[in-house]
Amino acid sequence: MHPTDKIVSDARAAFDAAATVADLEQAKSRFLGKSGALTELLKGLGKLSAEERPKAGAAINEAKVRVEDLLAARRDAILAAELDQRLAAESVDVTLPGRRQAGGGLHPISRAQERIEKLFASMGFAAADGPEIENDFYNFTALRMFPDHPSRSMQDTFYVADSDKVLRTHTSPVQIRHMQSHQPPIRIICPGRVYRVDHDATHSPMFHQIEGLWVDEGVSLADLKGTLTQFFRAFFERDDINVRFRPSYFPFVEPGVEIDMEWERKDGEVKYLEIGGAGVVHPDVLRNGNIDPERYSGFAFGMGLDRLAMLKYGVNDLRLFFDSDLKFLRQFR
Ligand code: DAH
Repeated sequence: MHPTDKIVSDARAAFDAAATVADLEQAKSRFLGKSGALTELLKGLGKLSAEERPKAGAAINEAKVRVEDLLAARRDAILAAELDQRLAAESVDVTLPGRRQAGGGLHPISRAQERIEKLFASMGFAAADGPEIENDFYNFTALRMFPDHPSRSMQDTFYVADSDKVLRTHTSPVQIRHMQSHQPPIRIICPGRVYRVDHDATHSPMFHQIEGLWVDEGVSLADLKGTLTQFFRAFFERDDINVRFRPSYFPFVEPGVEIDMEWERKDGEVKYLEIGGAGVVHPDVLRNGNIDPERYSGFAFGMGLDRLAMLKYGVNDLRLFFDSDLKFLRQFR
């Protein structure tokens, strides 16, 4: 066999044995590299006579072209095989179930609040808002809870050091703020966070209230009773709920009442739950809101939003709402 034929057949065998492009590069250098077999032959041309040289040179060049063709063919084959393999490995099984995004959800208190806002909106009440860090004036004095008034001590207050500010102890200050910037007819509810120094199964230092205020000509306690009865029935989806008022005292209303909601009838006994306070807005409170008490009257109420949510969702410990336990919260998604 002519030496160039031997080189070509050796190259074919070596290229066929290469499984990867990297193997192939190694094999290539053995034939076409700086000290490869063909390169060595070319170097030997100088030793040949002038007659022999052209023929030998042509044979070497022809062998080189054949080796290069073999190399290119083998490289294409390896690349094609690698591509096939990758496609097979990466194929998508369109029948597999999809991966779900973890879904979030509203906190049960937020859900209850949204529901309450919607129900009151359907009765013509807009939602109003006020600051949680409140002036002593709005939180107490404007509501006739004067500096030495004993009613102040019923609300264990967080005072903001070296200021006349407090963390609002109830949502009632929003009444004053809203009246100062609006004239009747006023029909608002104000849901929001309030703060008191208190902590046990039914009290949290931060909790939620929902305030209501309706001021117009000729508004009375009868309107309050009708509004709340309709609200409770819609919120709890029960048409048999009645509302009972028990006389009570709050400095900012006259008369003042405790709101009791009918909850259960067992063995002829009716069980009521206390839900909040209410009353006819005191004339001085209207005046503090720049509203003429000779012309207008109104009612106000304040209820525990968390209490309503506990009753609605059957939760028996208030602290569960604020512990951030996902096992608990996920049940409300
Ligand atoms: N702000 C009172 C409290 O937190 C609740 C209340 C009672 C609100 C009577 C009212 C009301 O608007 O008229 O104890």
